[in-house]
Amino acid sequence: MIVKKLKFENFRNLSNSEIIPCEKVNVIYGDNAQGKTNLLEAIWLFCGGHSFRGAKENELIHFEDSFFKLSMDFYSQSRDQNAEITFAQNKKKIKLNGVEKNSSSDLTEVFSCVVFSPENMTLVKRGPSLRRKFLDGAICQQRIRYAAALSKYNQIINQRNALLKDIYKHKELKETLPIWDDSLALTGAIILKERMEYISKLKIHAEKFHDDISSSKEKLSLEYISNAGVIESDSIEEITEKLRKAYENSRKDDYHTGYTNIGPHRDDMDIKINGISAKTFGSQGQQRSAVLSLKLAQAEMLYLKNDEKPVILLDDVLSELDPKRQDFLLNKVDSYQVFVTCCEESNKEQLKSGKVFYINDGEVC
Ligand SMILES: Nc1ncnc2c1ncn2[C@@H]1O[C@H](COP(=O)(O)OP(=O)(O)O)[C@@H](O)[C@H]1O
Ligand SMILES: [Mg+2]
Repeated sequence: MIVKKLKFENFRNLSNSEIIPCEKVNVIYGDNAQGKTNLLEAIWLFCGGHSFRGAKENELIHFEDSFFKLSMDFYSQSRDQNAEITFAQNKKKIKLNGVEKNSSSDLTEVFSCVVFSPENMTLVKRGPSLRRKFLDGAICQQRIRYAAALSKYNQIINQRNALLKDIYKHKELKETLPIWDDSLALTGAIILKERMEYISKLKIHAEKFHDDISSSKEKLSLEYISNAGVIESDSIEEITEKLRKAYENSRKDDYHTGYTNIGPHRDDMDIKINGISAKTFGSQGQQRSAVLSLKLAQAEMLYLKNDEKPVILLDDVLSELDPKRQDFLLNKVDSYQVFVTCCEESNKEQLKSGKVFYINDGEVC
């Protein structure tokens, strides 16, 4: 996938204009608060979702205006295409190749990005829920049935938790718990199997990227940690059985706490660098490299699935990385189209081939 032209009108602080990126690395350079991230955000919206900064659509409209409009020419599925996103009066309108579309998911099918933003550092620094969210998001991008299983699982967990709270007052309800556990085990097994399969492939790419970023000085390792003792080689039937037993064994604890303590909704992904926890012992640069490796591996997985390379958006990624790691990102990921923002003049000069856009007060040149 290649962004060929991006036009913006009343989008955040960006002046109404257009950019024509190159097919490889595009550096967006400028001081703080000039509009660099806003530009990446504009490209990201064409993936069909919400802002990666969690902004609401009406916050994206330039302060003094009543609508924004983005138009993008891009190459995807072996042809030139155009998409338009307009937002006015609290309504989003999407056009693909001149035809109005009902849903954002029409864009998801033709355009995809992988984004790194500084907030993603929480993937290594914080608790397991963010790592599960990363995995679930990445798998959903590839497997529609996964999203359905996930939503069903969460629904059953909510119902089971509500029942656990009722059991506190009505002990006789205990008898109904095994019914919930059976359906949890069946749906949970689908989730676990998909996560295990995804990680087994993702880790190969992530470990390779980390090796490249660190000039072979560091070894990244990823491992899925199932609290029900499920392992990669387990069949779906074996996983179902292990989960069923785990829910059964956890019932006593669950009665006490009033929620379900075990299952894929409490699992984690262990990220280690040179055999030790990246979260506890990793330096800022190592943690950043690990998150980047995960994101680049996610891009590679999308490429293998769709035979189409997603666009890579790297926001403020270069700070805290040594010159060799910066060189890797600026000059060695060029089989993808990359947009990378930076504030340092030296980064711009490190770029061996590609295009540099300078942003000053929303003005791009
Ligand atoms: N809806 C908006 N209308 C006008 N300006 C906005 C809007 N949203 C954000 N901005 C401005 O955009 C600037 C931040 O842009 P950003 O792309 O995050 O900066 P950076 O270049 O540091 O990445 C801020 O000055 C902010 O006030
Ligand atoms: Mg920024």
